Amino acid sequence: MPTETEEIRGLGHRVKRKEDDRFIRGKGTYIDDITLPGMLHMAILRSPYAHATITGIDTSKAQALPGVVAVVTGELMAQHNLAWMPTLSGDTQAVLVTDKVRFQGQEVAAVIAEDLYTAKDALELIGVEYEPIEPIVTPQRAMEPNAPVIRTDKEGQDSNHIYHWESGDKDATDKAFAEADRVVALDTFYPRSHPAPVETCGCVADINPATGQATIYMTSQAPHAIRTVFALVAGLPEEKIRIVSPDIGGGFGNKVPVYPGYVVATAASLLIGRPVKWIEDRTENLISTGFARDFHMHGEMALKDDGTMTGLRVSLLADEGAFHADAQPSKFKVGLFHIVTGSYDLPTAHVTADGAYTNKAPGGVAYRCSFRVTEASYLIERLVQNAAYELGMDPADLRLKNFIEKDQFPYTSATGFVYDSGDYHGAMNMALEKVSYQELRKEQEEARARGELVGIGLASFTEVVGAGPHKDYDILGLKMNDGAELRIHPTGKAILKISVQTQGQGHETTFAQIVAEELGIQPEDIKVMHGDTDNTPYGLGTYASRSTPVSGAATAMVARRVREKAAKIAAHLLEVSEEDVEFSKGKFSVKGAPDKVVTIQDAAFAAYTNFPDGMEPGLEGVYYYDPPNLTFPFGTYAVVVEVDPDTGVWKVRRMVAVDDCGVRINPMIVEGQIHGGLCEGFGIAAMEQITFDENGNCIGANFTDYLLPTAWETPRFELGETVTPSPHHPIGAKGVGESATVGSPAAFVNAVIDALWPLGVRNIDMPLTSAKVWEAIQAAGGSKKT
Ligand code: CDP
Repeated sequence: MPTETEEIRGLGHRVKRKEDDRFIRGKGTYIDDITLPGMLHMAILRSPYAHATITGIDTSKAQALPGVVAVVTGELMAQHNLAWMPTLSGDTQAVLVTDKVRFQGQEVAAVIAEDLYTAKDALELIGVEYEPIEPIVTPQRAMEPNAPVIRTDKEGQDSNHIYHWESGDKDATDKAFAEADRVVALDTFYPRSHPAPVETCGCVADINPATGQATIYMTSQAPHAIRTVFALVAGLPEEKIRIVSPDIGGGFGNKVPVYPGYVVATAASLLIGRPVKWIEDRTENLISTGFARDFHMHGEMALKDDGTMTGLRVSLLADEGAFHADAQPSKFKVGLFHIVTGSYDLPTAHVTADGAYTNKAPGGVAYRCSFRVTEASYLIERLVQNAAYELGMDPADLRLKNFIEKDQFPYTSATGFVYDSGDYHGAMNMALEKVSYQELRKEQEEARARGELVGIGLASFTEVVGAGPHKDYDILGLKMNDGAELRIHPTGKAILKISVQTQGQGHETTFAQIVAEELGIQPEDIKVMHGDTDNTPYGLGTYASRSTPVSGAATAMVARRVREKAAKIAAHLLEVSEEDVEFSKGKFSVKGAPDKVVTIQDAAFAAYTNFPDGMEPGLEGVYYYDPPNLTFPFGTYAVVVEVDPDTGVWKVRRMVAVDDCGVRINPMIVEGQIHGGLCEGFGIAAMEQITFDENGNCIGANFTDYLLPTAWETPRFELGETVTPSPHHPIGAKGVGESATVGSPAAFVNAVIDALWPLGVRNIDMPLTSAKVWEAIQAAGGSKKT
């Protein structure tokens, strides 16, 4: 029970993360920590070719190896109708190959053995005959009429084109361009990158042959949705499937899809009657599981000579890989990319998007991004900077001139989003002040006169998170709503069960703080449970910064529901009518007599011991939240770089990040989220890229080739904060988990281009390796200094 002076640590408190107690003592439970009696191990044979017909598979030698229990092929899976599975975008994906391989690393066969070493040895004994076909490694080649068709399995699919999608108003946009004083254009490529969580994907599938009960321990960001998909795909009764996602070592979108390994391990456990464990190694994770980005984009902006933006036209070609598996709301073919108008009051816009199959791994996951918003934010912010220079304006001034004004909210964008609230001028002015923008520009002039390359890059972003309202947002038909269930025990301690699944975001702490704010029970007295479909309410999971806007809202609402009942009990204890009871910070008191008090703990005890006649005993509730709108966090980032003209090496001198995610539940956790996101944004800008050679071999299959920033390279971040609450969210919070990765790559690239603009460099595609920067300097005729 709180003492008179003890403050309830609800919203705005820097409560230390409750989950860290077990993590820092090495007591977390990850998938590979799970060992069951009689458990077998599975290893997967993967294709060395990107595109090849399979003419034969000989498994006899592998079968004969002592310790091998089963060798599973596509043919065996087909006998059980499990050779193909649905993707999150409603396409189909091969579980194990039956006809031809379509990307390097694709799953060809699996071995189940008594131990992992035997399983891996047996893979080498499987003989596969491949007949190579021309691999398609760019979406441009994929779209050519004479390109070999990758999806020969799909009836009526006679090209590699997957979809064409449009948003906005074409006629009005054409008119705006026809009437424009100026048009600025930019072609840019946002490269394929990978979420690369520290823990790779894996599962332990345990199907009890006697009861038919399937318990699947899985690294899943969306356990409930996965259970439903499993029920539909495998035809298992849903109540007999229990998905348990224990501690997860980072997800970042990588752990949303269903991967073939999960399906094969589950089928194997079903057929063999023993538990089966499958854990990817690092290379398997990088070459075969959900990539992100891979968008080739063209943007054009129409402007008046005075810098007023009058229209935006965007077209893009998406490299979707061999199976269209984007994790996104089904109504939107390129996720929420149409937020591409960003923070600007653009009267009209038109976006067209096409997707193509290529011989690469499927993915398109929401990698620390709300469904393709990162690509959109990058394009608009690169375009705006180039537009400013073309017009001879300062990039900050051009932005400030065109930002949506504070009093224009709620604001309907040219592509149909209703932005809930914002103060873009406030965030940018704070960033400019923190970085001393005016002084920096003077310094830059002096540095330029000395032949030094100093750049200042800005990026203002508007994120769109919290999918979403049931009218427009579903995945495979499942509406994107989430639940929370709250039970107050007789002693006033509580258990909160949530539908979302933390992977490092600290939900066990922040969600307890939401209840603390609403009920006045301290966060340490509230246990937060998640990741077990038998014991938590239904919901679509954690990705795209949707936990706080959706399940966080459900948590506030269920706490209010419980509080209403507690108030009735308090009135009974205080012997007054309910209308005479007031609540504040865990205490019910009588209006006008503040010393007559019943605590929430007293009310909880009475709910089981001394409740009014006719009242249902107990104190608990459940709430499913269907958000009325998305939330729109925003911010401005400013980066200062120095570029060495002789080597192309660029160093970040300053990085200022001002974020607005509405009301912050736990400022310390929010800052951690922003630091992580900025680090990932820096990595993409500077070094991360999954690429392929002309034969479709994946270059970037390990951490020597796929570079992630470490503490050594990562710059220091200076954070700032503005607070513009979401008007429709019960606690005024907007999601934040993805914002920094969405907003920051453009700021880094803009800074380098700003440094090189006077030399004639107009664009360099990410990642900005020193070699690429040096080449761009040379192509522009070298710097004065060299
Ligand atoms: O869906 P995900 O948890 O990745 O993203 P989020 O909802 O943006 O939340 C990330 C973390 O920041 C969670 O622990 C949130 O509770 C916390 N957060 C916060 O403390 N205040 C906010 N306004 C937004 C998020």
